[in-house]
Formats: sequence, C-alpha cells, structure tokens
Amino acid sequence: MTHFKIEVSIERDVRRDVCAMAYESWCCNPYFCSMELTTYDRLGEDNLRLMVDRFYDLVFSHPQISRLFKTDKALIKEKQRLFLTQFFGGPDLYSQQYGHPRMRARHMPHAIAEEDAVAWLQCMSQAVHSLDIEESLKDEMMKRFIPTAMFMVNS
Ligand code: HEM
Repeated sequence: MTHFKIEVSIERDVRRDVCAMAYESWCCNPYFCSMELTTYDRLGEDNLRLMVDRFYDLVFSHPQISRLFKTDKALIKEKQRLFLTQFFGGPDLYSQQYGHPRMRARHMPHAIAEEDAVAWLQCMSQAVHSLDIEESLKDEMMKRFIPTAMFMVNS
C-alpha cells in the first residue's frame, strides 16, 4: 500500500514538471498533459478574424455562390467568427448570442447544391492557406470543414 502511494506521488511530480515545460513551450504532450490545446487556442483570435475576413471577401465575389449571400457582409463575418470560435473549441460565443446553432436548419432557407458546398470549401481552403500557421493546423481545420460543408447540402 505504502509502495503504491510513493509511486503515485512520483508520477504526479513528473506530470507536473512535464506539464509546466509543455505549457512554457506551448507544446503539450497529450501522453502526460491533460491540458491539451484546442484548435481555437492554436489558431488564436487574430488569425480567426483574418481567416473569416478573407473567406467572406472571396465568397462575396465568387461567381457561383455570391448570389446566396444577401445579409450585410460585416454581420455575417461577425456571426461566423462567433460560430467558429465555439466550433473549434473556444467559448460558446455564438450560442450565447443566437441560441443553439442548428446550422443545417439555419441553412434550409438557402438552396445549397453540392457545387455550392465545393465552392464554399474552395474559398475556405484559400483563406486557411493564406494564414501564417502550421500546416498540421490547416489540415486539422479543413478536415472539420469538409464534412460540415457537405452536411449543409440540401438541394
Ligand atoms: C456548404 C456551403 C455553404 C453555403 C453555400 C452557405 C451559405 C450560407 C448562407 C447563404 C447564409 C446566410 C447568409 C445571409 O444571411 O445572407 C449562411 C449563414 C451562415 N453559415 Fe453558411 N453556408 C455553407 C456552409 C457553412 C458551414 C460549413 C458553416 C460552418 C462551419 C457555415 C456557417 C454559417 C453561419 C455561422 C451562418 C450565420 C447563421 C446565422 O444567421 O446566424 N456555413 N451560410
């Protein structure tokens, strides 16, 4: 029993030291550290704003999908920024302001075909790849966007 207790306290010390090192270098080792960074943490608020800004500038001038967007550009950018904050693991800013996201239902009034989802993804890919961030983070985000965009197809 005593032996067991000693082992636990050593393990805790190691965990604490490794986590402190990982925290300082912004590199969490998920094996030791339970404080894994979210996609939102790794991206950062400034990059998220930049990405959303560039994305909608592309969308609003896109020959295939610009016709779908009728709201004020600044408003849709703000809604998307709030939504993506929570989508990528940050605070639930969108829900606090607009309630449950129900994204598929909110897209129902807009006829979205597969070609529209592809065009949307092309704009998002261009916006994501314009950022000065790790390639693995770009891949991580596109892996979330692809199925989500295809899920919005409703016509
Ligand atoms: C599949 C292609 C997509 C198309 C063609 C599309 C199109 C649209 C349109 C037309 C609107 C309304 C704009 C307006 O009010 O003028 C909208 C709103 C929105 N979309 Fe999409 N969308 C797509 C995919 C997505 C995806 C994948 C996400 C999230 C990852 C997303 C997030 C949002 C958000 C947050 C709003 C604002 C909802 C609100 O009014 O509160 N959309 N989208």
